[in-house]
Amino acid sequence: MQVTKGMVGHGFYDGHSAPQWEATAHVLPWLEEAAAALDLPDRGVITLADFGCSEGRNSVAVMQHLVTALRTRSERPIRTIHSDLPTNDFTDLFALLNPEAGSAFADDHVYSSAVAGTMFRQLLPPASVQMAMTFNAIGFLSRRPLDRLPGYILANGPSALNPVGHVSTAERAAFAQQADADLRSFARARAAELVPGGKLLIEVFGAGETLRTCDGIYDVLNDAVLDALKAGMLTQEAYARYYQPVYMRRLDEVLAPFEDSNSDLNTLFMRERSELYEIPVSFVDAFQQNGDVATYAKAYTDFFRAFTETSLRLNLADSADLEGLLRYIYARAEQRVCETPERYPFNYIAMAVLLTRKE
Ligand SMILES: C[S@@+](CC[C@H](N)C(=O)[O-])C[C@H]1O[C@@H](n2cnc3c(N)ncnc32)[C@H](O)[C@@H]1O
Repeated sequence: MQVTKGMVGHGFYDGHSAPQWEATAHVLPWLEEAAAALDLPDRGVITLADFGCSEGRNSVAVMQHLVTALRTRSERPIRTIHSDLPTNDFTDLFALLNPEAGSAFADDHVYSSAVAGTMFRQLLPPASVQMAMTFNAIGFLSRRPLDRLPGYILANGPSALNPVGHVSTAERAAFAQQADADLRSFARARAAELVPGGKLLIEVFGAGETLRTCDGIYDVLNDAVLDALKAGMLTQEAYARYYQPVYMRRLDEVLAPFEDSNSDLNTLFMRERSELYEIPVSFVDAFQQNGDVATYAKAYTDFFRAFTETSLRLNLADSADLEGLLRYIYARAEQRVCETPERYPFNYIAMAVLLTRKE
């Protein structure tokens, strides 16, 4: 079974990914500092590549910041590369890069392209990239490590607040191992593409000491899928086989491949900085201020629908009325948040590491 086809397209992901932008914006100063210190080529082009760009709004915004930072140092042509799975909806990206009035960038010498392919293999020519990055994407696994996850819809398991369901230690370990292997594949591919001295920024959602980005959102989605099960809309076997192909890493799990003295990645990259952080979520803040639970429930559900629906669709493809089932699940999720918002609190925990490709 395919793992994911990307996010919900037709502008839906772009319209419901403000928290992902906040998580990205937190590390923009790192990227701008890195751009200020980067060895720039005297000839040829400066290449910036973003892996897991989705529909492009956040990806183009990052590149706009970087182009501005680099222009203070160099007149060289800049190439921005926006990459995602071949099944990703690139339509909005192309529209953003080609606005009716001129360029997406405040500069004429920026040349953009999209590259389709999995980020877990090399996609660009050797030693051709100055800065590579990925935001809110590397938590998606390259493959399903297990056929079934019968007790819950995410390998990290339910939140402490809402312990409905169970994931065994062995099940969880299978996902942690897959996530580790994926991160190593990603870093090796980028090591091949980066020039010596080039920068790699990895930012992703995940788990902190107590809070995890999966809490709340996957609890309510799990509850809504169980509602569909109770209503006879899907079988127990279909529930057992369905899970989101995502793993929420801890910061130490992101750093491990680069600190492991037996790993080639330790010799390929030098760690510049890393951080675990929490970002404010606009729809949570608005709800705390205005108490408008219906608006909150809609924004909350649309937010996680944008990145969960495709996997749900792939998993439940055998269903007689797939569209009806999906409508029911997300409507139930929204209703549940509306009725008991305190059961599904949401916090966005992110982590980032900035690395330099060694000589
Ligand atoms: C939550 S979105 C993040 C989009 C954007 N970077 C942002 O921060 O708003 C995750 C993206 O990762 C992409 N993705 C998942 N697995 C991938 C893979 N193996 N290779 C490339 N992209 C992948 C998805 O298609 C999706 O567009």
